[in-house]
This record gives sequence, structure tokens and C-alpha cells, in this order.
Amino acid sequence: MLLEVRDLHVEFKTRDGVAKAVNGVNYSVDEGETLAVLGESGSGKSVTAQAVMGILDMPPGRIPQGEIFFQGKDLLKLKEDQRRKIRGAEMAMIFQDALSSLNPVLSVGEQLGEMFVVHRGMSKKDSRAKAVELMDRVRIPAAKERVGQYPHQFSGGMRQRIMIAMALALEPKLIIADEPTTALDVTVQAQVMDLLAELQRELNMGLILITHDLGVVADVADKIAVMYAGRIVETAPVKEIYANPAHPYTKGLLESIPRLDQKGQELYAIKGLPPNLLNIPPGCAFNPRCPMAQDICRSKVPPLFDVAEGRQSACHFWKETLDA
Ligand SMILES: Nc1ncnc2c1ncn2[C@@H]1O[C@H](COP(=O)(O)OP(=O)(O)O)[C@@H](O)[C@H]1O
Ligand code: SF4
Ligand SMILES: [Mg+2]
Repeated sequence: MLLEVRDLHVEFKTRDGVAKAVNGVNYSVDEGETLAVLGESGSGKSVTAQAVMGILDMPPGRIPQGEIFFQGKDLLKLKEDQRRKIRGAEMAMIFQDALSSLNPVLSVGEQLGEMFVVHRGMSKKDSRAKAVELMDRVRIPAAKERVGQYPHQFSGGMRQRIMIAMALALEPKLIIADEPTTALDVTVQAQVMDLLAELQRELNMGLILITHDLGVVADVADKIAVMYAGRIVETAPVKEIYANPAHPYTKGLLESIPRLDQKGQELYAIKGLPPNLLNIPPGCAFNPRCPMAQDICRSKVPPLFDVAEGRQSACHFWKETLDA
């Protein structure tokens, strides 16, 4: 495995207490594989990714437990300077908001070129040629003419392509894309997603695609991990989860996707809100919202049950959910 996260816990010290943002996450990604991480806002998707990248705010953040194996090494045991070398070169991240991630006072060419100057010791002149090459690669029209322009001179979609180009510059083994298309118009979303998927295949990278939008991942992901209250509640190959979810929360998420053939019908949404991480309900964290909850759900935390080859569900009633 390229990346293996094991029993990862992350908590934040806040004025009101300890917020348990990640509570024992396990996931893995291999070369050329795409793992989609799904879940409502606040479920711990980004915090898990930040821990993998080594960019967590610490403090207030803390990793009391867990391991993050990347190419066989536990990243949590490395010193900061070793991690810095891995960041950018071996693993890179694409964020939702390109405008705040890119430097507004440096031209796009300078920012792309800097990757090669800093990590590869390239000259300024050669690095500019590399920048144009990268812009071509992410299909920014007239790259040669636009390489000297600043981030605000590009459209949202083009800026997101520049972020992708930055992430790909050093041909990392792993890309983490955190809601990479959320801020874009629907039509542009699809183009950027297609580009990302295509480049990933070409370079045989591992991709972790974080999103709250199940509609986005159906075509690009190999497998899905659904997160709730800092835990993985279901994990499965993408086709199987769509055909037959084994967790009531996944089922709820799937039923909330707008469908073209059901226009005008009221959209099903999961009732209630995700829990307060300072005070996660006992038993199954989803029980206050779950239409299938029974007594045992309020007292016993469901472990991840093996549902089938490569499929797990953290629900006491996964069988009933599958059959429903
Ligand atoms: N720097 C921080 N300080 C305190 N709490 C944080 C910090 N970063 C994230 N959190 C909390 O961790 C929880 C999980 O956040 P996050 O991983 O960003 O969720 P999402 O699934 O939407 O990406 C949230 O409740 C958030 O408030
Ligand atoms: S364990 Fe119980 S509350 Fe949790 S998802 Fe399953 S049925 Fe619902
Ligand atoms: Mg997030």
C-alpha cells in the first residue's frame, strides 16, 4: 500500500473542552487508486487529510494515537524537516479555494516555477519553461502568454487548474484533493474533475478525493470511505455502495442526491444535525438521527463489521440495511 492510515485520532483543545474530531480512522490508498472520502461538513475529512500531509494546527490539535504509513514509513515518527521534504515532492494537496491558496503578488509562472527552483535546484529561466509546460498539461489556453499573469487574472476554473498544476509539478505519488471543485460552477466542476482523474491515471498516482457530493465521485473513485463524527462508518468499492449501501447514514446520503428523473419531488434529507464533537452521543454516534436505531445503538459502539470482501459497515444492523 502507498498510504495506510491506522487507528488515527485527532483532537482539538478548545475553550469549552476537547473536540474529538477524528476517532480511530483507518483507510488506505494504493498507487493508481482513487479513494473518495465522503461525509457531511464537520465529519473529520479535512482534519484526517491534514494529519496525513503534516499540516495540522498543533496546538490546538493533537494526535493522541495512530499511525500513518506512507511508502512503508510511519510519518508520525519523522522529524519536521523530513516531512517537509515529502510534502510537495511525494505527496501534495489541492484545496477548495485556489484564491486563498495561491500567492496574490506572485505571477502564476513564478509560483509554479518556484517548485522546481526550491526542490530541484533549477535556474529561474528553466523553471519558467517548466511552468509553461505544466500549464499546457492542465490545458490552460495560451499558457506561454499567460504565464506572467497573476492569480486574480484567471477564472475560478482556471485557477483550480493552476492548483492542480502546482500539486502535480514534482510528480508526487499521492494527491489529496480536498473539495477541489466545490467552489466552481457545475459545468466547470465536471471539467476540472475529468482533468484530475485523467492526470491521475497518466501518472499512476494515488488520489484521495474528499467531497460531500456523492454525485461527483461515482465516475472517478475506486472505493469510498464514508465518515461520520470522526469515524469511518462504511467502506466499499464504489459500485457496490451505490447499488446497496450497508449503513443507514450512507443510505441517507445517497437518497439526498438530486436526480434528474425525479424533478419536482421533495428531496430526502437526513434529519437533524451531526453531533457536537465535544459531546458525541454514546453508542453509535448516528443514533439520534437514524431511522433504524434500537436500544443497542444507544449503548454499544458498533465496530466495523465485515460485510463482504473489501466492504465494512459500522452498524449493528448492517444486514437489515442491506436487505431493506
Ligand atoms: N484548528 C482547529 N481548532 C479547533 N477545531 C478544529 C480545528 N480544525 C478543525 N476543527 C474541528 O474538527 C472538526 C472536523 O473538521 P473537518 O475535518 O474540517 O471537517 P470536514 O469533514 O468538513 O472536512 C470540526 O468540528 C472542526 O470544527
Ligand atoms: S448502529 Fe444503530 S443507530 Fe447506528 S446506524 Fe446502525 S441502526 Fe443506526
Ligand atoms: Mg473539509
